[in-house]
Amino acid sequence: MRVAMIGTGYVGLVSGACFADFGHVVTCVDKDATKIEKLKAGIMPIYEPGLDSLVAKNVEEERLFFTTEAKDAIKDADAVFIAVGTPSRRGDGHADLSYVYSAAEEIAQLMDGFTVVVTKSTVPVGTGDEVEEIIRKARPDGDFAVVSNPEFLREGAAIKDFKIPDRVVVGTEDERARNVMKELYRPLFLNETPILFTARRTSELIKYAANAFLAVKITFINEMADLCEKVGANVQEVSRGIGLDGRIGKKFLNAGPGYGGSCFPKDTLALTKTANDYNSPVRIVDTVVEVNAARKKAMAGKVIEAMGGDVSGKTIGVLGLAFKQNTDDMRDAPSLDIIPALQAAGATIQAYDPEAMEEASHLLNDVTFTKSAYEAVQDADAMVIITEWDQFRALDLDRIKGALNSNIVVDLRNIYAPDDMAARGFHYFSIGRPS
Ligand code: UGA
Repeated sequence: MRVAMIGTGYVGLVSGACFADFGHVVTCVDKDATKIEKLKAGIMPIYEPGLDSLVAKNVEEERLFFTTEAKDAIKDADAVFIAVGTPSRRGDGHADLSYVYSAAEEIAQLMDGFTVVVTKSTVPVGTGDEVEEIIRKARPDGDFAVVSNPEFLREGAAIKDFKIPDRVVVGTEDERARNVMKELYRPLFLNETPILFTARRTSELIKYAANAFLAVKITFINEMADLCEKVGANVQEVSRGIGLDGRIGKKFLNAGPGYGGSCFPKDTLALTKTANDYNSPVRIVDTVVEVNAARKKAMAGKVIEAMGGDVSGKTIGVLGLAFKQNTDDMRDAPSLDIIPALQAAGATIQAYDPEAMEEASHLLNDVTFTKSAYEAVQDADAMVIITEWDQFRALDLDRIKGALNSNIVVDLRNIYAPDDMAARGFHYFSIGRPS
């Protein structure tokens, strides 16, 4: 099959590389000429484990191409994927669909022969109908079908999630389009991955419902963590105790500083907006949005309290800035709430992140970025873990103790064991566990 992928963001680039690795011929199109030049030279615009070698291999084997010229890519394609951004619209929180619609206009002008137009971007219910209308208007004679095929990959585990997904969801009632989609995902059929065919609007909603449900799960366990701290219980054991119940499931029950990233905050908000527009509010998601935003802000207070209630004139060594490990993505990262609040309270920040410091340097002011975790805590009055990078789990804690001015560690990701930290002489504060 020949595929055109419009947009080389996270989803477009990973999907394009993985489809090429399945054996299809994929052309990734982006208007950003610098990005395309870099991709041609093998330089990835994002940090994602395994992506550079996957791209290099498929470029070399001539199944993966990058271009700024949509023309040939779309003309020759059996399927054109729209994988452009759908950011929150300033002011009202709705998803901004302008990039999706302009991609649809462009496809309409250039497609040739039966073309399956697939929205992979996360788009509100009814967007497929709009895309179909745009193309139909521009090409009344056009032979095409518009399909919804949401993506469920996680940053940091994107390739594995694409190639070994729990399921693939395809929203279309067009028989020819179904066959094209089946062919595209054929290698997954061989692995017995469930492929769910639904109506287009259902598929669009599945994506939002999945992300919102996961956000609810995380927020639920975060509130249980707060309660654990008050009643003297351990949230990790609560997670395990409930997660072993197959009806609940053990994934996404890790308490932390609140969810961030490019998807949950944007998608939960967009879902609540759509639901309100249809006069069918999803109150549980409204609450989750509010509780999570408040939680990220409250985390600075937790650090200040652990440091005796006053951080003015103190230095804090922060480990981890990205919204989660294995990514350089800073979008809606809890660190962006926590660090400015600590600075406003008078603290000086020294910070280290294995991948996100370049991005963070554009978003945070007056932070000293260091070359290592040890340097970040040198002469600091406390160490604060905000992101759960594996390398922080394996730190030489005696060296950390020697570098710190105090023995205070605030771990917002529960990466250490409280009794071990106490035995090492730390005054250790974590989330939802007795200290
Ligand atoms: C999320 C979904 O997990 C993907 O299925 C989806 O495809 C993607 O959004 C998207 O819509 O594109 P992602 O944002 O990359 O993926 O990362 P997650 O691993 O889901 O983490 C999101 C946030 O939740 C992070 O801040 C993470 O630290 C937090 N989290 C996650 C917790 O606090 N606890 C958990 O147990 C799990």
